[in-house]
Amino acid sequence: MTTSTGPRVVLIGPPGSGKSTVASVLSHRLGLVARDTDTDVEVLAGKSVADVFLEDGEPHFRDLEREAVTQALAVHEGVLALGGGAVLDEHSQTALEAYSAAGGVVVFLDVSLAHAGPRVGFNQARPLLLGNPRAKWQALMEQRRPVYERLATVRVLTDARTPGQVAHEIEAALGG
Ligand code: S3P
Repeated sequence: MTTSTGPRVVLIGPPGSGKSTVASVLSHRLGLVARDTDTDVEVLAGKSVADVFLEDGEPHFRDLEREAVTQALAVHEGVLALGGGAVLDEHSQTALEAYSAAGGVVVFLDVSLAHAGPRVGFNQARPLLLGNPRAKWQALMEQRRPVYERLATVRVLTDARTPGQVAHEIEAALGG
């Protein structure tokens, strides 16, 4: 029996890396609950992520996201997917570092532009990618890759792999 609280696995990575889908598949396989900070932000805001960006601006979104990450890391017991940019916040970085220092697993779902593009669809739902989605995704990834790599305890390349295969690899890394 475990008395620990907090998530068993945290997934980080850029839009299109498959965090939400892998969280869902992995949580089913492990018999755990999946949680997604984008959904938590939508509950806190009472509107979609896209509407928060549009009506309130990115800084407000990041404030809500910090709150969502902090709460989820403290109480959730399962698989937690973070929004792609959540790792940029210093407070969230510190919380993730404390989580992994205590033995928590942080998985960086790595992906190339060629595979992220079709998954994201580069559509209206990703406000940060509007205009020139491919170039903007590349710029985001260039800026964030060192942060994803630093915070992760495990890196899984998702290119050309199904969510089931990725989940299997994470399970293996968990020793299951
Ligand atoms: C963002 C990624 C999105 C969402 C928001 C901002 C980002 O989540 O949090 O649109 O900064 O990369 P996904 O990574 O789930 O697409």
